[in-house]
Amino acid sequence: MSHKKEASQSREGLLRSYDQGENIPLRKSLEEAYASDSGSDIDATEFLDRDPLAEQSQPAVVAYGPAARLRNLRTAFNRRSKCAIIIITVLVVIWSILAGGGFFLYKKKPVDGQSPPWYPTPPGGTVMQWSDSYKKAAELVRKMNLLEKVNITTGTGWQMGLAVGNTAPATNVGFPGLALQDGPLGLRFADNATAFPAGITVGATWNKELMYLRGKAHGKEARLKGVNVLLGPCVGPLGRMPAGGRNWEGFGTDPVLQGIAAAQTIKGIQEEGVIATIKHFVGNEQEHFRQSWEWGLPNAMSSNIDDRTLHEMYGWPFADSVKAGVASVMCSYQMTNNSYSCGNSKLLNGYLKDELGFQGFVQSDWLAQRSGVGSALAGLDMSMPGDGLIWANGKSLWGPELTKSVLNGSLPIDRLNDMVTRVVASWYQLGQDDTSRFDGKGPNFSSWTNDKLGRINHGSPDDKDEKVVNQFINVQGDGEDSHRIIAREVATEGTVLVKNDDNVLPLLRDGWLSEDKHEIKMRIGIFGEDSGAGDGPNACADRGCNQGTLGSGWGSGAVEFPWLITPVEALKEAFNKDRVYVTDFPTNAPPLKKAPAILKDQDFCIVFVNADAGEGFISSGGIKGDRNDLNIQKGGDELIKKVSEGCGEGNGKTIVVVHSVGPVVVEKWVNLPGVKAVIMANLPGQESGYAIADILIGNVNPSGKLPYTIGKSLDDYGEGAKILYYANGVIPQQTFSEGLYIDYRHFDKFGVDPTYEFGFGLSYTTFEYSNLVVNKLREKTPLPSPRPTGVQAPKFDTNIPSPTEALFPEGFKKLKKFIYPYIEKVSDIKPGKYPYPEGYNTIQLPSEAGGDEGGNPDLWNVYAEVSVDIQNTGTRAGKEVAQLYVSYSDVTGEAKKVDFPIKVLRGFEKVFLKVGEKQSVKFNLTRRDLSYWDVVRQNWVMPSEGQITVRVGASSRDLKLTGWY
Ligand code: BGC
Repeated sequence: MSHKKEASQSREGLLRSYDQGENIPLRKSLEEAYASDSGSDIDATEFLDRDPLAEQSQPAVVAYGPAARLRNLRTAFNRRSKCAIIIITVLVVIWSILAGGGFFLYKKKPVDGQSPPWYPTPPGGTVMQWSDSYKKAAELVRKMNLLEKVNITTGTGWQMGLAVGNTAPATNVGFPGLALQDGPLGLRFADNATAFPAGITVGATWNKELMYLRGKAHGKEARLKGVNVLLGPCVGPLGRMPAGGRNWEGFGTDPVLQGIAAAQTIKGIQEEGVIATIKHFVGNEQEHFRQSWEWGLPNAMSSNIDDRTLHEMYGWPFADSVKAGVASVMCSYQMTNNSYSCGNSKLLNGYLKDELGFQGFVQSDWLAQRSGVGSALAGLDMSMPGDGLIWANGKSLWGPELTKSVLNGSLPIDRLNDMVTRVVASWYQLGQDDTSRFDGKGPNFSSWTNDKLGRINHGSPDDKDEKVVNQFINVQGDGEDSHRIIAREVATEGTVLVKNDDNVLPLLRDGWLSEDKHEIKMRIGIFGEDSGAGDGPNACADRGCNQGTLGSGWGSGAVEFPWLITPVEALKEAFNKDRVYVTDFPTNAPPLKKAPAILKDQDFCIVFVNADAGEGFISSGGIKGDRNDLNIQKGGDELIKKVSEGCGEGNGKTIVVVHSVGPVVVEKWVNLPGVKAVIMANLPGQESGYAIADILIGNVNPSGKLPYTIGKSLDDYGEGAKILYYANGVIPQQTFSEGLYIDYRHFDKFGVDPTYEFGFGLSYTTFEYSNLVVNKLREKTPLPSPRPTGVQAPKFDTNIPSPTEALFPEGFKKLKKFIYPYIEKVSDIKPGKYPYPEGYNTIQLPSEAGGDEGGNPDLWNVYAEVSVDIQNTGTRAGKEVAQLYVSYSDVTGEAKKVDFPIKVLRGFEKVFLKVGEKQSVKFNLTRRDLSYWDVVRQNWVMPSEGQITVRVGASSRDLKLTGWY
């Protein structure tokens, strides 16, 4: 019952605060860029709590019999012009298509009541590590007037300011407007900045140090460009669906891998004083239906996630991020359990702010806020980019509406004070009051023009004032500090060698080694569009097309490449020209018939192929964000077949390099006799060519491991792995009924053999594992210690100011579409009895799993330490990633009845070993690592009877040593 109310409240909130009934346009990023693909705008005068589909279907199915219906139709035909009927038919057809089948499928009522209410929002300032910042923040906030407070919570509107998100300053107290910029693989829309490898490549390195260094370089670039808040890293999507359009922005399909990579990235970014944003909280696993209207439906889909799965899978990396001190969380577009994520009190108030003890501020994804007061009560702190339900129209659900809601008493002023204090405390926590690091002048680049001069409020037709907006400051670092060094290292270590028959790799820089051939030049042919420059890396806005070599996916997570080193150019440079003859055919249709010699004369053929995807607001090559399948794209499979069959007249050796946003099915060619080596090079960023050349000629010994499973078909990943491409209701439902069983956990449970398993990757050397020791540091007990009380949150005056203070100053010159905090007239304030969500007054007990940043501190205590010895037994120096997995097959007692995956990753360490060298590698296992989420006890429970099994090895299916705790 109560759940129901909350879900409908969010829609109700929307109805109350926004009833103008305007056209709702599709989501657009840069208006000029994507018009071509996304279809027409939809005329939507309906509100979200109505059912427009049902309403539109009325005329054809009124309750008359078939004969009467025919008669009616005939009369109608006579009455109306043919033309009108055609228009109606066309509209209905367009609507049905846009609704992705929803029109015909509509039978079910929207589901309500899956997300319990959790009110009020726990205030920030309750943990020691933030208490100084909260003290300073509270002092400042106490001096602010209402308008200043509202300014801090609400963006100024799309393209109102130089960054993708901007807040206005609290001028009287000297608090600056903040600039928020994407993230997560570099600075979006910026010049002279680095295009780092994408998250998926970072995950494939399994190198904690590189994760941190990339974050730090990214943070430094953001700071030097005047950005306060970086919109990354990304851990949602987690990768439930391997074809998910944005999986590549995150670090791989496992919560522990994602969590560690995110925490390291956050540490790096925030050490530079820039606020990191962990996104998208939570369940944003697919692009189709992720937000209202983008897919023709009035509502976004719902990701339905059960409590245990939330804790052990999708929420886990967010918990790691909070533990790492992340200062901002971005709530996602879609609904979670049928309540919009940015208005879901259970998620934001209960899970994030109470249980995980999050001290920073929650910002909405761009237009993910769907209600006014409702979302503030549910725990949202900042509305981005400020515009409310409609893109770029300047009408906010907050801004002046928030001012009104405080003045009319519908939003408790305490909540507003907490919202503001959370933002200001984050600013202090990151040291942004230090003027030597942050001059408070805002970004020195513009997201909206490449010219030196431009308008700051580009989105307002009233802003005619041209200023210097691009100072073209190079932030890429010089010499030893050049960020391209890190970018290249990540790209190289994030390259995964999965097949190397007869040790065909590495190739030698000087060609042949053996005596008999040593006078002959080696001949290498490079094939595939993915090896070359194409039309240049920045040919399409937000990298929204697949052409040339693939360095990143598309969408808000992509950046302008300052350059992109192509495989062809790097490989030509890498080989000794006197001894190796390299020819290149950077096309997927080389002239094999006309010029067969280009294949038959080669000793080695290197084929580059790819698979691309991205954010749902762009569609390209028939891909609307999410991939349509797991195949190699643009005819790459065929190219590999042809090349491997013809290379050296069947005696040549073919090496396949795949640049891809995620797993691809390789069955069509991986076992062909000519295909000797296969490399998964992920998305390498600007240094692409150098990275692959280093691996191919052995300058660097490959050490990447797969951050996902490569299955033989999409079906092998299970039903839950399939994108919902067609609406299955007015609010499309994706129920995560597979629970914990995604990726390798699914393959294990159902005994499916992957082509290449999660965590797999080859090296040019060999490693031996020995001597696993489990050192018990603490005794097993089922429950963590009681929740600590924490510190007192700051208190504020709760008097409601006079509405006259909030009026537009006389003679104020407004810019059209800019979001101001002011109200027009005092009579707009109508104090009254406002409805609150059901459950609002129910007292919530603080979670026993909470008590500090990241949850109960005992969850982070180390209970067991595991060590293993690893020795390099081959002929080259190299790095190995040792992975630790935990299993519960030997537990007894109560936990015996609990369903556990066969194994779960709980740690990894990368170690460099010279030839013959042996090192001991250590893993720490925390209480959380050894526990499961008990939905009845609402706490983490450690199976304490019997033994917990610990296995360490080189991949999820190559576990060499076993021990017990
Ligand atoms: C994306 C976010 C991004 C925001 C701002 C949204 O479309 O989902 O990840 O940070 O735009 O560009």
